[in-house]
Amino acid sequence: MKPNNRKKSTPCRIAVLCSGGDAPGMNAAIRSVVRAGICSGLEVFGIFKGYTGLLEGHIEQLHLRSVANIIQRGGTILKTDRCKAFFQKSSRAEAANILRRNGIDALITIGGEGTYAGAHLMGRENGFPVVGLPGTIDNDVFGSEYTIGFDTAVNTALEAIDKIRDTASSHDRVFLVEVMGRVCAEIALRVGISGGAETIVVPGKTHTQIVADLSRTVKRSMGAGKLSSIIVVAEGDHPESTTRIASELKKRHGIESRVAILGHLQRGGVPTAQDRYMASLMGVEAVNALLEGKHDLSIGVVDGAIARIPFSRSVGKHKTVDKKLLKLASVLAT
Ligand code: F6P
Repeated sequence: MKPNNRKKSTPCRIAVLCSGGDAPGMNAAIRSVVRAGICSGLEVFGIFKGYTGLLEGHIEQLHLRSVANIIQRGGTILKTDRCKAFFQKSSRAEAANILRRNGIDALITIGGEGTYAGAHLMGRENGFPVVGLPGTIDNDVFGSEYTIGFDTAVNTALEAIDKIRDTASSHDRVFLVEVMGRVCAEIALRVGISGGAETIVVPGKTHTQIVADLSRTVKRSMGAGKLSSIIVVAEGDHPESTTRIASELKKRHGIESRVAILGHLQRGGVPTAQDRYMASLMGVEAVNALLEGKHDLSIGVVDGAIARIPFSRSVGKHKTVDKKLLKLASVLAT
């Protein structure tokens, strides 16, 4: 849409920021927003270091060439942050004022569920148009089947597991491989099934239950002639919990294991084709929504297609563990 046939309420100057943990493909999303915005006659600004940078007024205009050669790069050229101050209403009001003082009419935020919560509140409380793009390896945005970075993280974890399997089978060992995702089990489920895990430990059970279940699983698989096992563990909310599981397995059931915590490795690296492609399509859709005067929503994937999802439908809600996938994983491990 050209600026002169746009509705009066549609923006002329938009800004984009990343917030929360970085995710591979964020750069492809930034590139898409900048190029789609400029090609539609908008001026596009980058906010550096998420909501923290916004509150500090760290805003710079981006041009077509500002986003050259970034589609293949992990991380985010805009940098990111977790901003505690944004939990306060007064900070969100200040952020909206800063945007207005800089002549910015609308904001695109790239991040996960925490980013969306802040975006939704800031927009609602201050009448400021915001659209969200799902950028997080966790795939934890309720209502969307996909988030940018998930595919790369899963592939990174799988590559690591394939390597761990070599040493596990050489030593006839049990390995507990911890993957990221906090309380969301999406990475664990995808990696566990694709990596042929013996079982997948998802958040929600007590330590005692987990250890007892694992002991049964490992003994059963040894009985079936399997000499080594890979167990994928979702990191959950408690640090060190995988290490604790391993020591209790030994103490209570005499099962020796090794722990591999994949950690931040999963957040870096060259984004996969899937992440670059989805980020590119979603970035354009975010700009289109703003040009049509639509906001207080995020772009996501519903039934395999790009969709607009009102923030009110996803914010504050959490994906639950897909029990059917867990069952399938255990069938495939027999
Ligand atoms: O939200 C993305 C994520 O990578 C989670 O999977 C993980 O629990 C968390 O961020 C780690 O956060 P930080 O980088 O702040 O330690």
